[in-house]
Amino acid sequence: MPRRLLSLLMLINLYSGLAVTAQPTDFRWESVAPGVWKAIVGQPDRITPLAVAGITPRIDRLKSLGEPAFPNALAGSSHQLVDGKTYLRFPLQKEEQLFGLGLNFKTVQQRGQIKTLHVDHYNGKDNGRTHAPVPFYVSSLGYGVLINSARYITVYAGTAVRTDSPNLPPEKDRNTQRDWSAQPYSDAVEILIPASGSDVYVFAGRTPMEVVQRYNLYNGGGVLPPKWGLGFTHRTPTLFSDKQILAEVADFEARGYPLSFVGLEPGWQSRSYPNSFVWDSTRFPKPQQFLDTLKQKEIRANLWINPYVSSHSPIFKDILPYTGSHMVWVGRVPDFTFPKAQALYKQLFTQQHLSIGISGYKVDEVDGYDHWLWPDVATFPSGIPAEQMRQIYGLQFQKMTDTWFRERNQRTYGLVRGSNAGASALPYVIYNDYYDHHDFITALCTSSFIGVLWTPEARSSKTSEEWLRRMQSVCFSPMAMLNAWADGTKPWTFADVAQDVKEVMQLRMQLLPYLYTTFAQYHFDGKPPIRAMHLVDGFSAVSQTTEGRLNSTDNPYAMAATKDLNDQFMLGDYMLVAPMFAGQSKRTVWLPAGKWYDFYTGQLVGEAQLIEISPGLSRIPLFVKDGGIIPMLPPRLHTPNKQETLSLTVRHYGTQEASWSLYDDDGETYDYERGVFTWTPLTVKRDRQGKLVGSWSRPRTPNFHYSSINWQFMTP
Ligand code: GAL
Repeated sequence: MPRRLLSLLMLINLYSGLAVTAQPTDFRWESVAPGVWKAIVGQPDRITPLAVAGITPRIDRLKSLGEPAFPNALAGSSHQLVDGKTYLRFPLQKEEQLFGLGLNFKTVQQRGQIKTLHVDHYNGKDNGRTHAPVPFYVSSLGYGVLINSARYITVYAGTAVRTDSPNLPPEKDRNTQRDWSAQPYSDAVEILIPASGSDVYVFAGRTPMEVVQRYNLYNGGGVLPPKWGLGFTHRTPTLFSDKQILAEVADFEARGYPLSFVGLEPGWQSRSYPNSFVWDSTRFPKPQQFLDTLKQKEIRANLWINPYVSSHSPIFKDILPYTGSHMVWVGRVPDFTFPKAQALYKQLFTQQHLSIGISGYKVDEVDGYDHWLWPDVATFPSGIPAEQMRQIYGLQFQKMTDTWFRERNQRTYGLVRGSNAGASALPYVIYNDYYDHHDFITALCTSSFIGVLWTPEARSSKTSEEWLRRMQSVCFSPMAMLNAWADGTKPWTFADVAQDVKEVMQLRMQLLPYLYTTFAQYHFDGKPPIRAMHLVDGFSAVSQTTEGRLNSTDNPYAMAATKDLNDQFMLGDYMLVAPMFAGQSKRTVWLPAGKWYDFYTGQLVGEAQLIEISPGLSRIPLFVKDGGIIPMLPPRLHTPNKQETLSLTVRHYGTQEASWSLYDDDGETYDYERGVFTWTPLTVKRDRQGKLVGSWSRPRTPNFHYSSINWQFMTP
């Protein structure tokens, strides 16, 4: 190339203002909150997940976590423009493990995997196509990286080897060396963003949990559902009428099965797939009366929708100018980046649903599959490319509806099938049609790294054993849901396990004070309610991979994957849940450091070890940490309302003195965001004789709903 042309090109490069260069360049990290840094690389897109989620960082709470230094482990990270795309490179240390990178269903540990993060219905493979392909990973070394981009990002999570790597794996001869590996050691996470730039964030933490806390707090703190949202929910068959639903509700009551909200599936509408969003007058002649009757029984109602508009909908004509080039089930696809499109929905939904007492939505089909949704060639009137629309559509719908409920000072808690980064504070739980029980539990674990909630719903089962096992798992998840839309299965359908199902549903209701406090920790401290074991203090992720054959010049990933702990998790601070699956009569459980006790008997089961259990069919195995404090309600059929005051039983497990704060507020409004709440320490200490004694001081505010405590010392 002639020298003059070369200098001209260099000059253009210099003055183009782009921070992304053809050469690897260091990031320019700027502190944006305590323990959180941001770098702007190149020219980021206008649409980003965090902007769509409309996050409000909880600076006060982030401050209380401390102000750590920028993570050393990320020294030497770089970015570069390659082929008009953005290439990011972050170093990896030997034995470092990675978590996150979307809602995965097979493995918790992500090192050694390649993903193209793409909003989709989960397809049976952890390849990045999932309901919440959150571009965020957490390292066992205590930092997290978020790519705030709504593109189909490809992540090589420690798979490739560069010629200039400082940690080159030795070349081996497959003919003669038995330890030859198809996946030689890789020392970097490499990321390709098909765009000329992106915002990138780094979150620090002494532990992976602290990283997750910062991520959630930066996104506004985790959602605190209304109390009724934590009860039991039953979704009724799709063509049920108001009378049939009321009969079903009465049946739950008569048989003694708890219920807090019902779900109405597509048949509540006059047209669906595409949707009118108005009530079907034959099945629901008087919706207001129907909802009032439910409310008198302390039952809320949730409406199924997908966003695609039928020509029979009252908003059809007005929304047309704000819809995309392609249809979904011959329904129009609104471009919600237009305030006018949002306003049309708000008006209709308020008039038809919110103003008469609907408590929330199930937002279906905002994820995929490809052959149903708009293709990537679709165009939208705002000019936002189809790819980005796909990545943010579910997130934007969550944000829009969340705003409507907030304006009414009424908490909601619904379901959604598509989400992305920044969703921590949004009142939605992800679900799908995939229906593999074991993989549903893995999704509970993986959801805990990326600021989303997941429900392993039960629909139907081949055997009563499977039904019971699924219902047990459901009761230990963020939304305890029976989705009978197609099969009409009832909790009592399998007569031989009907009593066991009832008991686990009752246990769910009894645990409400523990669950509610656990969600308050999500909101105020950023600690997810369901926690993968790798987020637990005293659980050593490292010992899992160093034990046995781990030579980091060999394949370090095989070990991590085979030892992957994806079938047990913590619910809150104290409860370890180890679900059983149909056909299983025994299983192993990893117990973190400290002593662990059986939830039902209070007996010691082990300490920092792998145990094998054969618990029988009737109960889900639950273990409690030494010093565990579990507040419980008397069994009840509905979640308590804000006028009720109840007596508590507080269980203590093990031999340690302990103190744990119980959270309470009105359970329905957003007043807690304005300071109307209480944290009440529950304390267990030994008296002079060495006997454990519980104490507390009852707050005298109308928003505290417990009048007395019966202390129960479970471990003799
Ligand atoms: C599916 C959804 C189900 C059910 C059904 C109704 O897409 O995942 O839970 O709502 O639609 O048609």
